[in-house]
Amino acid sequence: MAFETRKRVFSGIQPSGNLHIGNYTGALRNWVRQQDERDCFFCIVDLHAITVPQEPAVLRQGIREVALLYLACGIDPARVTMFVQSHRPEHAQLCWILDCVTPVGWLERMTQYKSKAAAQASVSAGLLAYPVLQAADILLYQADYVPVGEDQRQHVELARDIAGRFNRLFGETFVMPQVELPAVGARIKGLDDPTAKMSKSVAGHKAGHALRLLDPPDVLRKTIGRAVTDSGREIRFNPERLGVTNLLTIYQLCTGQTQAAIESQFEGQGYAGLKRAVADAVIEYLRPIRERYSELEAEPGYIDEVLRQGAERAGPVAAETLEMVTERVGLG
Ligand code: TYM
Repeated sequence: MAFETRKRVFSGIQPSGNLHIGNYTGALRNWVRQQDERDCFFCIVDLHAITVPQEPAVLRQGIREVALLYLACGIDPARVTMFVQSHRPEHAQLCWILDCVTPVGWLERMTQYKSKAAAQASVSAGLLAYPVLQAADILLYQADYVPVGEDQRQHVELARDIAGRFNRLFGETFVMPQVELPAVGARIKGLDDPTAKMSKSVAGHKAGHALRLLDPPDVLRKTIGRAVTDSGREIRFNPERLGVTNLLTIYQLCTGQTQAAIESQFEGQGYAGLKRAVADAVIEYLRPIRERYSELEAEPGYIDEVLRQGAERAGPVAAETLEMVTERVGLG
């Protein structure tokens, strides 16, 4: 992939559960690939996580775990700006201003809001405003590109709508961000239910659902062994055969082979052989991440310093946008 030099990039992950192979292929892997060419801001979006109830000690631990995983996956804090969202107050400040120009109807239409709200006994105002905070993240850094998985496309499109509305009301202020999806792995499905996307929150309480980045080899093998497949025998990429296609996609991501090569490799084989091969490939693929994570975990002071410096570096960019916005709106 060729990237235009020094374009600005923003993306983030919520510390809301165990990161899994979908978070890696949908987001992290593509972040790592562009950290030399582009001016990257990678965030741990903890303010988003509290839009649904969180246990404070678990959240605090989750923030560190996601930060360590960024590094373990190959993010280099010397080449990118990586930081925790709540360490920069400008995110919440810009969010409030954008809340005031965003019609509630736009937010009520968001599919993620509808499904998350349906799962809550009581829906917070924060959950409804969640995509406005996401727009604030992106627009604060005047990002050109937002590399994410397929499930975030609608939120990035909303960020464009909010930017467009603000620009019309107050004059050209924000860069129009573009969503960037990976060619393969933009939507990995749950192994227990290939009709649903693999999800962090489900990964935390349901064995057999996700391939978590820190799962030991025996757990990965067991999860893949139990994966739901389709009736039939054919091992091909086929959008109507969700279970097998999901396993083949994971295999493709781990091995880098073409679909045609993979299909001919598995021709005439059964599902047991497929699952064995996928398990071997996933275990080898995730091994370096797990090893690097345990090395990093042994030096806890290091990550605190990385995050402190990241927030410091993000500061002037965030402050410049916020100053322009407050001035245009007529505040202060
Ligand atoms: P989050 O934390 O749910 O997911 C982090 C990233 O992983 C991608 N992803 C997947 N990709 C492929 N297959 C899957 N099954 C899968 N599950 C998750 C997501 O698309 C995402 O890229 N709202 C965002 C976080 C956010 C953000 C931002 C992103 C907040 N502010 C600004 C970009 C820019 C979220 O909840 O992602």
